[in-house]
This record gives sequence, C-alpha cells and structure tokens, in this order.
Amino acid sequence: MKNRPNEVVYNLEASKFNWDIAPGKTIEAWGYNKQLPGPELRANVGDTLVVRLTNHLEEPTLIHWHGLRIPAAMDGTDVVQKPLAPGEVFEYRFVLPDAGTFWYHSHANETVQMERGMYGSLIVEDPTDPVFDGDKVLMIDDMKLNSDNEFTRPGWFVPRIVERHDGREGDTLLINGKENSVIDIAAGQTERWRIVNSSSARYFTLHLGGKEFKMIGTDGGLLEHARTLTEVLITPGERVDIAVGPFEEGETILLESLRYSRSTFLRPKRQQFATVNVGEQKASIAYLPETLRVIEPLARQDAAITRKVRLSVGPSLADGMDFLVNGDVHAHDKPVKVGELQIWEVSNTSLMDHPFHLHGFFFQLIEENGKRPEYMAWKDTVNLPPRSKLKIAWMPDDRPGRWMYHCHIIEHHAAGMMAHFELVKSL
Ligand code: C2O
Ligand code: CU
Ligand code: CU
Repeated sequence: MKNRPNEVVYNLEASKFNWDIAPGKTIEAWGYNKQLPGPELRANVGDTLVVRLTNHLEEPTLIHWHGLRIPAAMDGTDVVQKPLAPGEVFEYRFVLPDAGTFWYHSHANETVQMERGMYGSLIVEDPTDPVFDGDKVLMIDDMKLNSDNEFTRPGWFVPRIVERHDGREGDTLLINGKENSVIDIAAGQTERWRIVNSSSARYFTLHLGGKEFKMIGTDGGLLEHARTLTEVLITPGERVDIAVGPFEEGETILLESLRYSRSTFLRPKRQQFATVNVGEQKASIAYLPETLRVIEPLARQDAAITRKVRLSVGPSLADGMDFLVNGDVHAHDKPVKVGELQIWEVSNTSLMDHPFHLHGFFFQLIEENGKRPEYMAWKDTVNLPPRSKLKIAWMPDDRPGRWMYHCHIIEHHAAGMMAHFELVKSL
C-alpha cells in the first residue's frame, strides 16, 4: 500500500479494432487500446492521474471522466475543450479527490462512439476501504447487432421513433465486453463487485439467482450502511458496488437481468448475463464494518428550492420528438455561484424514464416524490420515472467553469435533453 500521493500515468489510444464478444463472434468495436472495455485504471485517492489520449479514429473524440470532481477544464466535454482531431494527443491531468467506482467514456458522437465500446472503468481506492477477498469490476452493456454482427439501427420510421423514445436497446448482453461470461469466486469468500452500467439506454435489474447480496456503495463511493438485497436496478451511467458471497463449493449461480418494470412486455422476463462458478473453499479475510462511513446531510428535506429543472418531451416536425430541459433543446441554464448551496427540484413530466446526470459534482437526494429517501448516498446519476419529482442538494465548490447536466440515455442526450451552465465566483 502506498502512503504517499503519487502520479499514475496511462496512455489511451482510441481506435477501431476487431473484438470477439464470444468465440467466433467478432464485431468491429471502437475503443481504447484495442480492448473492450478500455483498460481498467486504478489509483489511490489523492494520487494525480495522468492520461495521454491519442486519437486514431477518423473523427474527433474526447474523454469525459464520469463522477470525478475535477477542474472544469478536465471534464472532457465540448463546452470546455476542443475535441481532438484525428491524430491529435491530449493529456488529462488531475488529482483524484474521492474513492469509489468511476468510469470514463467518449463525450463526442456518443450514439456511435459509446455504443461501440468507447468506455472503461476508473477505480479509486482508499486504504481505509473495507477489506474483501477480491475486487472485480463488471461493466455491463447491451449491443444491437444484425446477423452479420454489425451494429444496426432501425431503418424504418416507426421503429426509429420507438428507438428515439426509449433509447437504443440491444439483445446482446455483455459483461466486460463478453457474452455469457463466467465469473469465478472461491467458496467461503466475499468479494466486492463494482458494477457500471455503460449501456446506451438499457435499465438493468441485476439478480444473482435469488441469493442475497449487500449493496455497499454507489456513484460517489460507500454508503453509510450496507443494504441487503436480492436485486438492484442500475440505470445508464450509475454505479453500484455490492458485496457477494460467501457461496458453497460447486454452486453455479446465474447472473441475470430481470425485465425492468416499465419496459415493454416484448422484452424477455429475464436475460442471462453470466454464470458465477464457485470453486474450491478458501479462507476469508473479508470484513465489513457496521458503519461504512458517515455522510453528513447537505440540507433538510424542506430546504427552499433554488432552481427547477424540468425534463419533458415535445413534438418535433423533423424527428417526431424533442427531448427538452425547461422547454429547450441543448439549454443554457443560469449561472451557479461557488459556495452557494444548490437545492434543485428535478421533475420529469414525460411518460418515459430519464436518468438525470450532473457532471463534476455529487448530489444528495433529499426528497423523492414528497417522501424522504430510504438511505443516504452521494450520487451523480439518478433515475426519474415518468411523472416524478426529486429534490437534490449539491454544493458547488471552487471549480469555476462550464459544467453540464443531461439525461444519460445517449439518444435523449443527443436529441437535446441536456443543459450547460457557468459556475462563477460571483454573480
Ligand atoms: Cu457519463 Cu456527460 O456523461
Ligand atoms: Cu458525467
Ligand atoms: Cu432521457
């Protein structure tokens, strides 16, 4: 274990490449270092991360650091940085302020670049993290492929409208770039699994053959207390850390995704992701304390609202539907002042779900449809079911610049459901 903060350097090369998602099933992926997902980046909290990105694609690209509280200039969106032209190199450099499960992904032409594999995980460890027998990252995704294993989109108007409505959902389920993977765990051991939903639009309800597991963390790191569950919903952009095991030698457990309650009934009830194989018994050193950490509340449930953000859908002549923030596509929101506590009411007046994502800052959910949320957590992405209303609190610390928030269903984001705002020192 390193005690002194140091510099952790990675090179990421963006390119197209062939990737086997299953034996004999090859796709043309886009990604980093010819891997799908891109390399798993690991560092300690307090370290400086240096990532040199080289663009070998034939089109511009950028990397966004999802969930990281870094300076605006490093956020990797086109409101703070000119996308890298083919052949260009850019060095991202920032200190890692928080421990947890984060990820990086392209923030350019996302409906193509992200769906083809331009994402990877960034794990930030803390020496005080609970101890497990193993630590695995599972990046879950779905791809929509035709019979030639090429990425496909509906050609006809009606399915095109449906796809725009729900976002692009596919039937090829992947964990870490592989179909039907096998996850090995030794009997008697407890592991930390860090799950990232890197899909374009798919809602996954993960289920471990009915076995109980413990949710211990989410977007912004550990929860206060573990929550015992048998299934967990994870929407695009969100992360969930779970503690799994101990299991018995020889057990085989299916890791499945159950149909999301608001998905169309055309979706299968359950779909298999992976098989968990339990191997020989091994001694365990895992220890999960009663209190994982303390999260101080930023505001009370009845705190006065400082801003309203309304997500809605409106008719559009050109595309059938527009995706709006406060009535606008690609909206410009009012500035926010450094140090001024933000209490936002985020509402969804449409009849579909939207995972709301704020760049660069964690928020706390302080009210959910008039009720107090069940548990405390630091979040950067939260789902808004149809006709729902949330109250979130967040503190803009001293990182002035341009920031954005958007729906993390990539097709909705691309169709306009996003806004940017300026964080300023004084209004
Ligand atoms: Cu993962 Cu702009 O987001
Ligand atoms: Cu983000
Ligand atoms: Cu949406």
